[in-house]
Amino acid sequence: MKRIVNQIFALVLTSLSLHLTSYAGSGNNSTSLIGVSSGQANAFVDSLLSIMTLEEKFGQLNQQRWSSDSVETAEYRTAIRNGAIGSFLGIHGAEVTRDLQRIAVEDSRLGIPLLFAHDVIHGFRTIFPMPLAEASSWDPDAVEKSARIAAVEATAAGLHWTFAPMVDIARDPRWGRIVEGSGEDPFLGSAMAAARVRGFQGDDLSAANTMLACAKHFAAYGGAEGGRDYNTVDISERTLREIYLPPFHAALKAGAATFMAAFNEIGGIPMHANGYLINEMLRGEWSFDGLVVSDYTGVMELQRHGIGATPAEVGMAALQAGVDVDMVSAIYINDLPEMVRTGKLSKTAVDEAVRRVLRVKVRVGLFEDPYRYCDPQREQTLMLAPSHLSHAREIARKSIVLLKNDRQTLPLSKEIKTLAVIGPLADDRWSSMGSWAAAGRPEDVTTVLQGIRNTVSPETKVLYAQGCEVQGSDRSGIQPAVNLAKKSDAVILVSGETANMSGEASCRSTLDLPGLQLELAQAIHATGKPVIVVLMNGRPLTIAWLAENVPAILETWFLGVQMGPAVADVLFGDYNPGGKLPVTFPQTVGQVPIYYNHKNTGRPSRDDDYFTSKYLDLPSTPLYPFGFGLSYTEFAYNNLKLSRATMKASDTLKVSVEVANVGRRSGDEVVQLYILDEAASITRPVKQLTGFQRIQVAVGEKRSVEFTVTADALALYNRGMKRVVEPGTFSVFVGGNSVEVLEERFTVVE
Ligand code: GLC
Repeated sequence: MKRIVNQIFALVLTSLSLHLTSYAGSGNNSTSLIGVSSGQANAFVDSLLSIMTLEEKFGQLNQQRWSSDSVETAEYRTAIRNGAIGSFLGIHGAEVTRDLQRIAVEDSRLGIPLLFAHDVIHGFRTIFPMPLAEASSWDPDAVEKSARIAAVEATAAGLHWTFAPMVDIARDPRWGRIVEGSGEDPFLGSAMAAARVRGFQGDDLSAANTMLACAKHFAAYGGAEGGRDYNTVDISERTLREIYLPPFHAALKAGAATFMAAFNEIGGIPMHANGYLINEMLRGEWSFDGLVVSDYTGVMELQRHGIGATPAEVGMAALQAGVDVDMVSAIYINDLPEMVRTGKLSKTAVDEAVRRVLRVKVRVGLFEDPYRYCDPQREQTLMLAPSHLSHAREIARKSIVLLKNDRQTLPLSKEIKTLAVIGPLADDRWSSMGSWAAAGRPEDVTTVLQGIRNTVSPETKVLYAQGCEVQGSDRSGIQPAVNLAKKSDAVILVSGETANMSGEASCRSTLDLPGLQLELAQAIHATGKPVIVVLMNGRPLTIAWLAENVPAILETWFLGVQMGPAVADVLFGDYNPGGKLPVTFPQTVGQVPIYYNHKNTGRPSRDDDYFTSKYLDLPSTPLYPFGFGLSYTEFAYNNLKLSRATMKASDTLKVSVEVANVGRRSGDEVVQLYILDEAASITRPVKQLTGFQRIQVAVGEKRSVEFTVTADALALYNRGMKRVVEPGTFSVFVGGNSVEVLEERFTVVE
């Protein structure tokens, strides 16, 4: 069947002399075609819209999950032919997507191409460190490169759209999805969000190796009470705007083409029906012109939230709130045409949503060449390319955080005679990849044990024992592991969580090492051998005993396919760790929530004053603070200087500091800048991250690091919720973490 859309396309192109070459999503998120205005491109969309039936319109708003069930696939093929599905998730591959695209383009009445989406969160086939690990690198350029490579591989497999970056701020490590984000801080989270959007989308969304990003989950999903996934969120608008929204705004400023609504409610209004935040703020105040997709069955779940008695009611609530695409509920396609016919749902709302979907399809170039992303040749050659793997190792090394290294236990010598590697995660391929591993395969992974074996000298004996399981009560492996340790010169104890103990719906009521792993650690420690703990985990863990007793601890999270080489590079000194924690480690779960940018209160915690904000049974300090991480060398901070003692809101302030490497090997340091607004019309956090730079400093080198502070960094939402800079005195803190800092002050004047 001749594609009607071709005829319209040709008609519109010639009548508007529109040469649709490619789109360049510009920084301010306006859609600008090279050579024509978005208005002309919109004319094409309007022409197409004008001949679509109601069912075809709702078809564009209907997203289904591909199935392997033959009956369902037959039904899906028929639905595609009838124009009743606009996009799929859960399928990828150049051939299979070409096959489905052909049905849409050649067999349906209008020939509107399909979008194929997938959760490409931290790599497609080359799996990079989990986002929380990548955030520990504090290196946005390296993180952008991971997303770029992920897009190159994913688009080679027929994908146009990733449901990433996940930009949810998390202050509660019991929440399993903390692993998918960039930690507790809005400034670091914003830098990571923007980097990933740039990486996925590149600077030409119609190019065959770029894909639509999706800032998720809008909004405040990480604020779930009790750290329980999907749970109620009840926060102030100020906390929403100051803590949870900045990474979304950063993603939007970086050009994110799509957003995803969150499962949670905020203060009684489920996000999937939150017209204020989606239509008025995201689309109005922030001028977002892309599309909003529901989360998986998020539209249907509005009924469970209790804000609608029927599918049609909740479907209308979601569409009118600004949720354009219904992921998997099939309520839009099944229940809303009747609502339009009976006048209960305005055609305008439907047309607006369809326009946004069609515009996105124009932006990725599907109307020019619907098969642009279906190239089996690219798919064959690009996966796990050597340059992809070398970046995977580089970003993994940068993501490792050295938490403890007493008596310079690390690095170990590669010539060590006998090394025991113990622990249930040491050879766990699946866990090394972390959750949301897209098309990653366990056989692609080099585990910690393998990485160690590949690195030590041929004469070194590497002994391995599991010791115990990650979870479980079988003690029978502990003694054999102890016996092995006794025969060794040092022990690498790999402890933590399996990958499925964090991620979606994987929340824990405790942060302790699961199972018998602490007992195993204590038994190994009792042998008197030097024990180096390698943590593999998806969240901060309460490891006070380890922190107290073992001489060295590496935080390695889940580092992806190059986990083993990266960990071995650090263990044996081929790489000096420079990562910093993007999230606070509590001493006990009872301290949660505990985060660095807290308020002072009227009775700030003092151990020497009873009537202050603290616990009877525990100091109020964390086990490891936000921004913390050690190195195999040492850095000294001196000469913190401000370019001015007073400034107006319109001025800029230069902050400089000298960082000297006073140790015995070169290394990376993440220099962190924090500010405190000492007195304002509303209470302010005791510290706010306002800048950071990861720098390399050679032995004996002294580097001057400079930050520029502008009014935006000093602004707050006042009592009228207006964003303003108030005059007054500010403190400036600079250091290698959020606690050990140099301090200066300046004053903002009217
Ligand atoms: C899931 C997740 C979301 C993901 C979507 C599609 O429930 O909440 O992050 O993108 O479904 O897999």
